[in-house]
Amino acid sequence: MDQLHLKYKDRINYGSYYTPKWVVDFVYNLLGKNIQNIKEYFILDTSCGYGSFLRGDNGIGADIDDKAILVAKKNFPQFTYFHHNSLSNISRDQYNLSDQEKMIVVGNPPYNDTTSIIRNNIKKNICSRDNDVMSRDLGISFLLSYDKLQADYVCVLHPLSYLIKKTNFEGLGNFKNNYRLKDSLIISSGIFTETSKSTNFPIIIALYEKYLFGMDYDFVYNYEFKTDDNKVFSLNSFDYLSRYITKYPNQKYVRQEETIAYFWTMRDINALKRSRTFVEKECYNTIRITKDKFAYYCYADILKEYIPHIPYYLGNCDLMINNNLFNEFKDLFMIKCVQKYPDLKKYFSFNNELPKDSDRIIEEYFKKLLREHYVD
Ligand SMILES: C[S@@+](CC[C@H](N)C(=O)[O-])C[C@H]1O[C@@H](n2cnc3c(N)ncnc32)[C@H](O)[C@@H]1O
Repeated sequence: MDQLHLKYKDRINYGSYYTPKWVVDFVYNLLGKNIQNIKEYFILDTSCGYGSFLRGDNGIGADIDDKAILVAKKNFPQFTYFHHNSLSNISRDQYNLSDQEKMIVVGNPPYNDTTSIIRNNIKKNICSRDNDVMSRDLGISFLLSYDKLQADYVCVLHPLSYLIKKTNFEGLGNFKNNYRLKDSLIISSGIFTETSKSTNFPIIIALYEKYLFGMDYDFVYNYEFKTDDNKVFSLNSFDYLSRYITKYPNQKYVRQEETIAYFWTMRDINALKRSRTFVEKECYNTIRITKDKFAYYCYADILKEYIPHIPYYLGNCDLMINNNLFNEFKDLFMIKCVQKYPDLKKYFSFNNELPKDSDRIIEEYFKKLLREHYVD
């Protein structure tokens, strides 16, 4: 499984994190369960590495990394290989496949946000891409390429955020217009130890089938995701803080005179884990807080302390809230925050005494919010 021939820098640029065998076995499990006569299909992996996703009689592998292709040829000489950039001049012709041939795409394409700042110093744009598969994320380009290849089924790994973050989902363009999630399992990025040093994010092993009406965001919002620790969750089973306050800088709408504090931009749970909450000075990345919304930002601050109790698979979700329950106890959240940030005291006139069992109440709140997903 090791991509030992590559230097650290190249591993990042190629997105080369090879997949453990049990995951490949699971992919074939999904295919076997959902597709009849799988033998009639060509199995294509356009980012095949050492070829570990190829099985059956009609395997085709391609990779931009010539050394990986050499190893694949040695490991599995029975398959056909191409050494090329799979995101350029995408067509079935590239693989000597006609339009009539039945085809399943498998694999673990590189995911690499080409604009994100993490490891930006070594990230390079390693390949040119056809215009119709352009995206800020290389992995989304790969999904778009499978649509271009008119795969009958696609069974690949990719970050769950492609589906559950609305802007990413919209970026799935013709892929989402022509394919629908049929079966899946969520696993943790922690299985690729190198990719995430501290924060694991959810990866989906997803089987998509070609479907006339594709899928819309509502479909994803209501989909029941199964996880590798036997949990099931759907986005619609939570309420989100973003329904009550803005997550993004709001200088344009909120006047300075009304502002009592500043809060760092909020994205998802994993971002909150790394980011600051209340900040002293205003900047391009801060939100102006007014007195009437203050409690909700206190909530976000306290939620951050409880992130260790939130499972990895909810890491890309918006901050969740149980609004009724929160409103019952919102003074507790506020007093707790004002104790942490005494500068805020001047705006409020509560006694500032926390009831003795306040920690227990807050813990109970988060247990009720997260239900079976609460991590002890
Ligand atoms: C996550 S690894 C997966 C390798 C293998 N399928 C596995 O799972 O073990 C991603 C692979 O994509 C290849 N790759 C990256 N960009 C590519 C491109 N534009 N065209 C073809 N392959 C590419 C890398 O060289 C790397 O082998």
